[in-house]
Amino acid sequence: MNKPILISGIQPTGRLHLGNYLGALKNFVELQNSGKYECYFFIADLHALTENPEAKDLSTNIMNLAADFIAAGLDPKKSVIFLQSQIKNLPELKWILSTLVPPGELLRMTAFKEKVLQALKKEEREKLTKEEYDRIVENTNYGLVEYPILMAADILICNGQFVPVGHDQLQHLELARTIARKFNKKFGETFKEPQALLTKTSRVMSLSDPEKKMSKSQPEGCLFLDDSEEEIELKIKRAVTDSGAEIKYDPDKKPGISNLLLIYGALSGKQISILENKYKGKGYGQFKSDLIKIISGALKPFRTKKMADAKLKTILKSGAQKAQKIASAKMKEVKEKLGLLL
Ligand code: AMP
Ligand code: TRP
Repeated sequence: MNKPILISGIQPTGRLHLGNYLGALKNFVELQNSGKYECYFFIADLHALTENPEAKDLSTNIMNLAADFIAAGLDPKKSVIFLQSQIKNLPELKWILSTLVPPGELLRMTAFKEKVLQALKKEEREKLTKEEYDRIVENTNYGLVEYPILMAADILICNGQFVPVGHDQLQHLELARTIARKFNKKFGETFKEPQALLTKTSRVMSLSDPEKKMSKSQPEGCLFLDDSEEEIELKIKRAVTDSGAEIKYDPDKKPGISNLLLIYGALSGKQISILENKYKGKGYGQFKSDLIKIISGALKPFRTKKMADAKLKTILKSGAQKAQKIASAKMKEVKEKLGLLL
């Protein structure tokens, strides 16, 4: 029996943080090693273009992300690892799928609204009128609007059935499911409806403001995977905790310590209740100093990663060849269904 296909991507838009790791990358490795899936993991470089990066920054970020994939434990012998832009049919499928999506649905996406407002300060956002918002949207880049259709194409072109992602991608995945369903209804069974796979830490919160998710648009609350041991120590010591001294998981009343407990649990493999017991009667100081050690140990591979670019490029090239095969076969099927000539 063929194994179900699992696929996910990460954008090369800068250094990865602990949220990316605990929501996505660590899970990629565990799912790969479970042996239950045929795995495809890619660097979403076309998506990254929506942030209008400088060319040299983009290529540096691509190579760094490839090195992070390998440092985390993705293995080209077990998974297909590739660059999105090297799959030539993706823009073609994106175009076809776009004919099934009303623009209103794209403009309502939470991630889209967050992106267009990213440059504004909190006070400015709160004052924004409907007309002002519309003007910002009219002047944003169109790639941000189409972003979720490209994401659906990424998944559907490889027959992706399972998609490990963080919580913030669920809405995009729901759209991919809707698109698959619409296409199948009109042209006959062609795509599987992809399902998200979430971790227990699918929404890691900011270290400086535990009411908000950890996000690279707020670097002050991020712990980056290649932070030095000194930075890890400083950031955890400074991490916002809550009033009281009890180490207890209670995300409503104690969002800071609950976030740190989730991080501790995910990196050590220990259950939250076991950790609560371990730290009963002990203060935040002891807990934080143990957590610093756990994080430092778990992130060591990212601080010492050293695979040469030439070797990484060979891995990506061979991955793209494998992914292209499945994409070409799928495009042939799609074109036949649409009545296009081959
Ligand atoms: P991106 O860098 O936006 O491509 O995100 C890569 C992956 O990390 C996606 O699956 C996101 O859902 C996930 N992710 C991003 N931020 C967080 C967070 N704070 N907690 C958990 N997962 C996250
Ligand atoms: N949009 C995803 C993110 O920001 C990255 C991504 C692009 C992706 N294409 C995908 C994730 C396909 C899963 C499947 O995290």
